[in-house]
Amino acid sequence: MSSDRPRQLLLALESSCDETAAAVIDRQRKVLSSVVATQHELHERFGGVVPEIASRAHVERILPVIDEAIRQAGTTLSEIDAIAVATNPGLVGSLLVGLTAAKTLAMVLDVPLLAVNHIEAHLYACQIAAGRNVFPAVGLVVSGGHTNLYDCRSPVEFELLGSTTDDAAGEAFDKVAQVLGLDYPGGPLIEKIAAKGDPKAIAFPRTFLKDERLDFSFSGLKTAVLYAARGTPGSRTPPVPLTEQRIADLAASFQAAVIDVLVGKCEQALLKANRSTLLVGGGVAANSVFRNRLTEMADRLSVELIIAPREYCTDNAAMGAIGWELLDRGVFSPLDVDVTPGLVRKQR
Ligand code: KG4
Ligand code: ZN
Repeated sequence: MSSDRPRQLLLALESSCDETAAAVIDRQRKVLSSVVATQHELHERFGGVVPEIASRAHVERILPVIDEAIRQAGTTLSEIDAIAVATNPGLVGSLLVGLTAAKTLAMVLDVPLLAVNHIEAHLYACQIAAGRNVFPAVGLVVSGGHTNLYDCRSPVEFELLGSTTDDAAGEAFDKVAQVLGLDYPGGPLIEKIAAKGDPKAIAFPRTFLKDERLDFSFSGLKTAVLYAARGTPGSRTPPVPLTEQRIADLAASFQAAVIDVLVGKCEQALLKANRSTLLVGGGVAANSVFRNRLTEMADRLSVELIIAPREYCTDNAAMGAIGWELLDRGVFSPLDVDVTPGLVRKQR
């Protein structure tokens, strides 16, 4: 990599769950291409991601997705200066597909390999949106697999402040959607239906909201929605009929409970970590009601709020631009680096 080169290019790969993605990002963090092949149609009828199906689909899609990202960026593989890939956390079989492709390319092209933490990358999507340094900050990643709060000291120093003790918020959206007879992924559909409902119709629990700890729990809420929809086991009172309006009220009341907790915990974390910037990323951050509530809270606290742009909220490879931060600091990975599916915070 010579410094007189007109541009330096990073190829980032992402295959941690059910999206196969590749992106080309230049050294100034400009996203030149971002290609995402979703597998939603494959997992829809199961109401969630089936790991075996996901791995197989990644194998089929990874090469066409890389080709398309290179083509859309108007470059060639020989111009790529480094390869970034999400190696944790995620589904083991899915992660392995991206890592194997990344290792092969790094070896053949003789360029550095950068192992990226998928959750930290979700927060880095905020830096891409801002186009400048956004650290230090408090960061919330709220997706189908994770609900984590971090004190983000720098783009490579993330301290976990709290996380979910059971379901992730996005997972709760997906499971509640199933209860209400909606398709997968449930988040966007719940948001749509909730717009016609009353968020105060049912007083669902706001677990840990009044608690000092910065953890989350959504499984009790999920069960409360199930009982409200289908009746409490052993109760003689029949459930309210699931009319269209009742479904909308359940969706709106559920969404309000999740958002109250997420926004409340962000506020607590900002005060505890004494930060004046809040970064929010992950699939649930695509939710408009959530975005509006975050904006209100940030205005009230005079905190700068940076939410990942919608296209970089759900899984994508552009957020793998965080690989540049590793490269800048000489944090390369050897070619025998492995995936660490359960690792939430990367130990370096
Ligand atoms: O970040 P992501 O694409 O994948 C993971 O890393 O998990 O997040 C997907 C999750 C799903 O659970 C989906 O239901 C949720 O994000 N989601 C939403 C919305 N859009 C996606 N949840 C609530 N409202 C939305 N508009
Ligand atoms: Zn994700």
